[in-house]
Amino acid sequence: MSETFIPRIQELAKCARMLALVGASIKLRSDSSVLPAIREQIELGARMALGEVLDEVDEEQMSLALVMVEMALSEAGELFRSPDRGSNWEVVDAAAMQAMGRSSKSVFTRIQSIAETDPKLRETFQGTFLDVGTGVAGIALEAARCCPNLKVDGIDIWEPALDLARQNIAESPYADRVTVRNLDISALDETDRYSLAWLPTMFLKRPIVEAALDRIARASVSNAYLVAGVYTRPEDPFLALMANLRTLRSGGEISDPADLKAMMEARGYVDIGMSATPIATFVVGRLS
Ligand SMILES: C[S@@+](CC[C@H](N)C(=O)[O-])C[C@H]1O[C@@H](n2cnc3c(N)ncnc32)[C@H](O)[C@@H]1O
Repeated sequence: MSETFIPRIQELAKCARMLALVGASIKLRSDSSVLPAIREQIELGARMALGEVLDEVDEEQMSLALVMVEMALSEAGELFRSPDRGSNWEVVDAAAMQAMGRSSKSVFTRIQSIAETDPKLRETFQGTFLDVGTGVAGIALEAARCCPNLKVDGIDIWEPALDLARQNIAESPYADRVTVRNLDISALDETDRYSLAWLPTMFLKRPIVEAALDRIARASVSNAYLVAGVYTRPEDPFLALMANLRTLRSGGEISDPADLKAMMEARGYVDIGMSATPIATFVVGRLS
């Protein structure tokens, strides 16, 4: 019998609860409806978890932290409930799909912040944006909200997500600029249409990514940008393992951004840059 096993589990369980408390405390910053006694305990717990640093955090860090907490907790919960799940996207739970849509909104926030120092990328916000794997249209609607002149085409192959996307679009003020349709990216058959495209390679097998890059390049206007995402593989060996597992369970295969860069260069993309956060690395290129 081990003396250290249960104490170690207790330590890990404490960390999980601390993370949940930090997330709860960030959420409650914009919610006044909670009982004061409960708020007080949550605030106290978050302070125990984070200490003084909490006083130095700005709004941008808070919203990144909330995305990171939401992702860690939902990933951890899903992994624990369904360790036997394969790598398909056939999620039927509407709440889970909507949560993924909410957390993926930050993709467009990041594209916008990259554009702050890249005027050619900013110009693409006047054209048409292709959102590959649009899901419930979280990124598509965020793009329309941030860029009043941008039109958005979302494509996906999962009809239950597209049904929710259609509802979300109808309930939004952007129904005249955002459309979604059931289409596999490897069958995209447009030419000269898109000024900007988002390709989440973490959900796609390598041959689909290869086909997608061909199709997107053909469907794009000149000087169009492509932003391709992979999960960031951190230095820490445990976190690197989690990133690989996440890519595999998401249906993806590519985990090295340098691979993507080479694939984009082969299709005529230039000025290729990388932008990394702890969650995802964006490979950003312009079609010459
Ligand atoms: C993480 S979800 C996207 C979440 C989305 N951004 C949102 O706001 O809901 C990834 C999506 O990629 C879609 N997908 C997977 N393979 C695809 C393919 N070959 N062509 C188009 N979409 C695909 C899946 O059906 C899934 O809905």
